[in-house]
Amino acid sequence: MAKNRAVIGCQWGDEGKGKIVDLLASDADIIARAQGGANAGHTIWIGDEKHIFHLIPSGILHEDKRCYIGNGVVLDPFGLREELALLDDKGVAYDNRLFISAATNLVLPYHKLIDAVEEERRGTTSIGTTKRGIGPAYVDKIARNGIRLIDIFSPDRLLKRLEHQRSIKSEWLEGSTDERADINRTYHELVAMAEQLRPMTVDVSQHLNSAWRAGKSLLLEGAQGVMLDVDLGTYPFATSSNTTVGGLLTGLGLGPRVIDEVVGVAKAYTTRVGGGPFPTELVDAVGDKIRDNGDEFGATTGRPRRCGWLDLVLLRHAVRVSGIDSLALTKLDVLDAFDELKICIRYEQNGKTLSEIPLDLAELHGVTPVYETLPGWHEETSGITDLTSLPDRARGYLDFIARDLSIPITIVSTGAKREETIVV
Ligand code: GDP
Ligand code: IMO
Ligand code: MG
Repeated sequence: MAKNRAVIGCQWGDEGKGKIVDLLASDADIIARAQGGANAGHTIWIGDEKHIFHLIPSGILHEDKRCYIGNGVVLDPFGLREELALLDDKGVAYDNRLFISAATNLVLPYHKLIDAVEEERRGTTSIGTTKRGIGPAYVDKIARNGIRLIDIFSPDRLLKRLEHQRSIKSEWLEGSTDERADINRTYHELVAMAEQLRPMTVDVSQHLNSAWRAGKSLLLEGAQGVMLDVDLGTYPFATSSNTTVGGLLTGLGLGPRVIDEVVGVAKAYTTRVGGGPFPTELVDAVGDKIRDNGDEFGATTGRPRRCGWLDLVLLRHAVRVSGIDSLALTKLDVLDAFDELKICIRYEQNGKTLSEIPLDLAELHGVTPVYETLPGWHEETSGITDLTSLPDRARGYLDFIARDLSIPITIVSTGAKREETIVV
């Protein structure tokens, strides 16, 4: 029977979901993005060629597969056009195999402008957003002011809805000299783009449900990670969508029984971009070494990522709130050259022990991580493809994690390339 999988980031994003989705795509017929937008940056290496996808699903390089962008995504049509042009340059065909939900809300230039201004206003408590307009676009969606993909095919309706934007966003748009505030310009650009997008625009829920009933295998690609979920993450230092498994279902119009396996992707250590609490962060030479060895710079913004030890308190939370069945552990090779490795097993605060994340962020800011120290392996694991070739100490590291989380590690990634993977 076809297996339908969901792939969820278990930390603060950038866990290597792109690589894992590209890998699992070999077993799937359809790959679908469900939430987030061009804040995502999913990297795939094929041979010596690097591909970074922001909106386009990470299965697109498999030319026999179909890819979908669901209603839960906020779609930047101009960003999409750039990504499509890159596919054209690379000779990757997408006609008749890349489809977008008519119901996706659009991220328009004024959303990016508002994102930047709001970040500035937050001052020292800024979230450190990607400035891709994600938050403001979801605000419009939830306030029922959004403009959806379907609207661009009816120019009169589009113009009315854009003019409404001008009236409700006068604070940002009126009198601004920033071209992103120019509603007429946006209108003309959208109308000009309509013909390119029309053949891709479909009812994604209908397509996916029919495919599922016909026995096709679906692979649902999460963006961001559990700790950035707007409900279950480190709010307000979060993104504006549900990055947990429920977001994949509402974002594609699927029922819960479609998913056979939820695969969580976690790095062998922890990183985060932007502001907010990070209990195991290392602001020292060890943190710098992880950043250098792991090349920890954002795929979307190029910002250096904050780095720290693996945190099992976070991963327990991720496993619980997203019903994760198995783990893909990535970037094990980055830990090859350390004398010892620490894994956070609980937090302490004012003499209290916490084995779960406190909901109150002020509390999370003040916790002290308690570590188990494991010996480093000081051997190269880069490119290893079978479990038995891993150093015993590296296997010990994996066993420790799997035991604590009570789920199996079914994929271990030992390099950025597709083949640098152990499938257990
Ligand atoms: P995503 O957002 O979860 O898809 O992850 P990103 O693409 O933003 O960041 C992951 C980075 O790690 C990318 O540069 C990948 O090429 C790289 N990567 C993925 N898996 C591995 C691995 O096992 N080892 C190493 N060294 N790099 C990896
Ligand atoms: P992928 O899919 C890492 C972070 C931003 C910021 C917060 C809010 O590549 O894992 P936003 O622009 O969404 O309003 O920013 O969320 N963030 C990510 N961090 N990976 C991502 O995506 C992210 N998408 C958003 O850095 O802290
Ligand atoms: Mg990323």
